[in-house]
Amino acid sequence: MEPNMKKLAAEKAVEWLEDGMIVGLGTGSTAYWAIKRIAERVREGLDIKAVASSVRSERLAAEWGIPLIGIEEIDRIDVTIDGADEIGPEFHLIKGGGGALLREKVLASSSGKLLIVADESKRVETLGRFPLPVEIVPFATRLTLNRLKELGCKPAIRLDGEQPYRTDNGNYIADCRFGSIADPERLTVLLNQIPGVVENGLFVRMTSAVFIGHRDGTVEVLNA
Ligand code: A5P
Repeated sequence: MEPNMKKLAAEKAVEWLEDGMIVGLGTGSTAYWAIKRIAERVREGLDIKAVASSVRSERLAAEWGIPLIGIEEIDRIDVTIDGADEIGPEFHLIKGGGGALLREKVLASSSGKLLIVADESKRVETLGRFPLPVEIVPFATRLTLNRLKELGCKPAIRLDGEQPYRTDNGNYIADCRFGSIADPERLTVLLNQIPGVVENGLFVRMTSAVFIGHRDGTVEVLNA
């Protein structure tokens, strides 16, 4: 039977947590395993406080007994553990497949370390095959989509049934098919210059280390 690569990677990253830390909890099916393991370590005596990048992850943490601290009560986060949709060259990332990119980026940008956990399928040579999630305000979406198209992608509003999907912040997501993204650094600046864009799913120069779970049951740890 194939090992659970996401679980293995997530559990390895959780080994990096120490007493006294403020920990950022990511979102998604790999971050799920990290949250689960953190809860086990808390039961074993690990003394941390956590902030979550989504309502979903906050509920999991509360349910599993991880001590949470309000985001307005903290000035720093020591370590955030989160997943990714693509891990490209220089550990630039695409995130937001689960819709939590804005809060994830807020946590990541204030974290001493961002640990990315993923199975081996997430490593890519060039970012952009995965449609880039871009969080946009619900006002004038047609105009915002036109501006996104000017950057060379095919954008589509993410749906939840027949209605637009709403993020935890009440916004929409435009999933933008670029095919390939040659210069993530430049693209992230261009995207965030569009007034209707709240944030985009490119995480540039944010990763501290990646934990990649492999089919053979090993976990590769790469420092960025
Ligand atoms: C959530 O919005 C995302 O950024 C996730 O971190 C990303 O989509 C990876 O999710 P999985 O671990 O479920 O693949």
